[in-house]
Amino acid sequence: MTAGVRADVHPAWLPAEAFRWIGERSVLVVGSGPLVDTVAGEVAQACDRFGGSSRRVPSGAGGDGPDSAGLPAAGLVLELVPTAATGSEGYVLERADGCTRVRAEDGAGLLHGLFHVVRLGRRAFTDGAFAGPDALGGPYRPLLRRRMLDHWDNVDVHPVMGQVERGYAGGSLFWTAGRLRPDLGRVRDYARLLAAAGVNAVAINNVNVHATEARLLTDRLGDVVAIAAQLRPYGIRTHLSVSFAAPVVVGGLDTADPLDPAVRQWWQDVAASVHRAVPDFGGFVVKADSEGQPGPFGYGRTHADGANVLADALAPYGGVVHWRAFVYNHRQDWRDRTTDRANAAYDHFAPLDGQFRDNVVVQVKHGPIDFQVREPVSPVIGAMPRTRLAVELQVTQEYTGQQRHVCYLAPMWREVLGFRFTGDAGSTVAGIAAGEGRGGAGAGSLVAVSNAGDDPFWTGHPLAQANLYAFGRLAWDPGLEPAAVLDEWIDLTFPTAPDDGPLRETLHAMMDGSWLRYEKYTAPLGVGFMVRPGDHYGPDVDGYEYTPWGTYHFADRDGVGVDRTVATGTGFAGRYPAPWSQTYESLECCPDELLLFFHHVPYGHRLHDGRSVVQHLYDTHVEGAQEAAELAACWERPGTAEAVGPPLHARVRELLQEQARSAAEWRDQLTTYFYRKSGVQDPQGRVIP
Ligand code: GCU
Repeated sequence: MTAGVRADVHPAWLPAEAFRWIGERSVLVVGSGPLVDTVAGEVAQACDRFGGSSRRVPSGAGGDGPDSAGLPAAGLVLELVPTAATGSEGYVLERADGCTRVRAEDGAGLLHGLFHVVRLGRRAFTDGAFAGPDALGGPYRPLLRRRMLDHWDNVDVHPVMGQVERGYAGGSLFWTAGRLRPDLGRVRDYARLLAAAGVNAVAINNVNVHATEARLLTDRLGDVVAIAAQLRPYGIRTHLSVSFAAPVVVGGLDTADPLDPAVRQWWQDVAASVHRAVPDFGGFVVKADSEGQPGPFGYGRTHADGANVLADALAPYGGVVHWRAFVYNHRQDWRDRTTDRANAAYDHFAPLDGQFRDNVVVQVKHGPIDFQVREPVSPVIGAMPRTRLAVELQVTQEYTGQQRHVCYLAPMWREVLGFRFTGDAGSTVAGIAAGEGRGGAGAGSLVAVSNAGDDPFWTGHPLAQANLYAFGRLAWDPGLEPAAVLDEWIDLTFPTAPDDGPLRETLHAMMDGSWLRYEKYTAPLGVGFMVRPGDHYGPDVDGYEYTPWGTYHFADRDGVGVDRTVATGTGFAGRYPAPWSQTYESLECCPDELLLFFHHVPYGHRLHDGRSVVQHLYDTHVEGAQEAAELAACWERPGTAEAVGPPLHARVRELLQEQARSAAEWRDQLTTYFYRKSGVQDPQGRVIP
């Protein structure tokens, strides 16, 4: 099967047409190695399709002039130059004498360079393209060394969570009902899409490791081998989620105590056998002592003890442990106002800074609670300078519309990645994850939960493809502008849309502000968790209020919000360094969008724009739902269906109806709730049921 071409599957950002500018040329690929083979294969496929020609020679053989077989001089040269000094995965772009040249010192760099040329299209072959002050020629290097997607795919269909936990795009790309898919061709195509976006690591199974999934380490290791074989040609390393209790569950030991020598030995033996089977195996992902998963607390050990034993087992093979910091008490008493889930990861992990092995990467959710529409950046990220960190984002839209609502998340991620704990000075969140403060030696990861499945559009909502694409691009370069990344996605995905047509403007109108729109009708002022318990779709204002999950908003007849101040609340604001500790502590300085995250305020409290809290709540829910309702008309603008193709147009049209319905439901439930609690009429005179 030709890479990326399946009649029943949308090609996402790599349609054949995106390769036209390469495929029409004479292309020379210089170098050898598996990833150079992939580059050469891509080029040959493009040239076959568009009438160009491709040649392949080993490094140092020259050959970019007209050759003896009469082939024309190369218009594109992709060249592995071991001395290119571009760094691992890096590359430079040059153009001279009518020839565009990509140079890289390793195969991964050449592959990323190839996809850069695809992105540039015609512009890559314009004289002067890479000259001038903008330094468009690079060198290009990823800021984050590991750019990883976590799949929450189950091998067996879980009775509650299904085949893919929090998956909104059909089934798993890897497994169906307990079995490895017989045809893994789509996994190869997925790897190709991910590589083109910049991703280089995938954890293939759910962090909640159930009985069958635990066996991926042992008698189901063949599944891992087969999946890794599909990911490898695109430079993607395979990681595996494992159960901390694996020594007991699949190893037959009577303990998983990390300080027990037999447990230590068991992990070493397992790591050795996995590496024999998958020589480029990336490592383990572990969710321990979290939401019912076993962990070191069960043996009176610390999370450093737990992580280090796995890390030691992987160290001889260059593997890493992504050890999740999502540890909190999920059996909380809702009447207990002193326990705060927001404090938990910080309190468990910050004191352990410096105690983790060098190949442990502590993986921290970007916010302190759980991927809400708006949260402050987790203070853990700024509190562990002697630990490698991964920042975890959620591309799957668990709390942001479940791929039924348009919600382009790059603006949120850009804000998170650009946040500086120390005011104007010091590293950004992205820089901390990259290990900038540790001379690069502490390189961690940017990780996200994938939103892809076996859906024909990959992501359920076709426009959610842009989130998957944007994650990879921002992990490579966190400084990219979300709107520019969206333009890249549009240009690649819809290459035949006319330049003067309405598509670009339509998509920007629908997507640029979609995160803020979603926030307006679901969770203004940082309130969070007013979703339906369990599936987390749709409104249920008090659904989580009297549960053990630690996710409260404390709305009563006088006010709403969680007091997380040091002075009178849970003390969470004090987990930040100055100036943020003071900013969040202060009712006057706290940014409005996080007001209810940090403070419990009366409904009449005035925001910075002079509006009362309750008026803001009414206004934003009404405005947000109105904007959601208007999306349908936007999508029907003449020319849009032709530009995106009728099947994609029809899918989005259907989903926009659901978005409008759901947004109206949010509006009605939340405005009614706050009217009944506060007794305050809508100052705009709108009638609230
Ligand atoms: C959320 C999500 C769970 C998931 C958990 C995690 O709580 O709802 O399905 O298992 O995050 O990140 O581990």
